[in-house]
Amino acid sequence: MIFRSADMKNGPAVEYGEPVIEIAGVYKSFGNNHVLKDFNLTINRGENVVVLGKSGCGKSVLIKCIIGLLSYDAGSIKVFGNEISQLPIAELDELRARIGFVFQSSALYDSMTVRENLEFPLRRHGKHKSKSEVQGLVEETLKDVGLLDAINLMPSELSGGMRKRIGLARSLILHPEIMLYDEPTTGLDPITSGEIINLMLNVQKKYNTTSITISHDMHCAKITGNRLAIIVNGTNYSDGTFEELSIIDDPQTHPFFE
Ligand SMILES: Nc1ncnc2c1ncn2[C@@H]1O[C@H](COP(=O)(O)OP(=O)(O)OP(=O)(O)O)[C@@H](O)[C@H]1O
Ligand SMILES: [Mg+2]
Repeated sequence: MIFRSADMKNGPAVEYGEPVIEIAGVYKSFGNNHVLKDFNLTINRGENVVVLGKSGCGKSVLIKCIIGLLSYDAGSIKVFGNEISQLPIAELDELRARIGFVFQSSALYDSMTVRENLEFPLRRHGKHKSKSEVQGLVEETLKDVGLLDAINLMPSELSGGMRKRIGLARSLILHPEIMLYDEPTTGLDPITSGEIINLMLNVQKKYNTTSITISHDMHCAKITGNRLAIIVNGTNYSDGTFEELSIIDDPQTHPFFE
């Protein structure tokens, strides 16, 4: 089945594939803190959805629920048709190999070199790869993020922007079909965040990924996203293209954020 949606950049309608992430009626609380309340969102193959919302509204919780790092209390989350809460751990692990997750903090393993950080997911998921195949993939992916020279460095020797890029490389090495970015440019200077945005666009192009990007950075959102979803009071208050939601330049002045 083909879904149509207006393309925010050029106006013409573009076609997206079948739903790959289907979130329906999801609730998630921590004690009395009711974070997600009847949250709904469907993302089709090839779509790049940006999730916006105030700090603490549940954006990171949402994407952790999607990859099964957090359980949800009620509702349904299906990824490639699989209900996440019902997947046996081995199958969840296999599914995660198809999903790249760039954490809010780059979450590199501090005691491992850059090379070892990138080899780690391959060891975990790509059991049948030879040593030279592993080395080839590590080098290709580091080239993709422009950091082949950093292959033997420790994470402590990297700048914030480099850590983000290595975090991105680590999630790309398994050639995921879905990318989840949790604030990929937050805390970076404009030049470095421009580099990260370019990498995200290259990834979309090279691997034809479907993605969710959590961001407060409207520049990043507009360039990398086809559609926006806005979380207010734990629900998907509104989703659509930038034009449909009339978000122009400053989201903080928009009524959704009051
Ligand atoms: N593991 C956890 N245990 C208890 N409470 C949690 C946990 N993770 C998140 N929360 C709570 O859930 C709420 C939503 O957190 P979340 O990290 O999703 O916010 P966010 O929208 O990503 O915010 P930010 O923009 O600051 O990153 C917060 O009130 C937070 O304290
Ligand atoms: Mg967050």
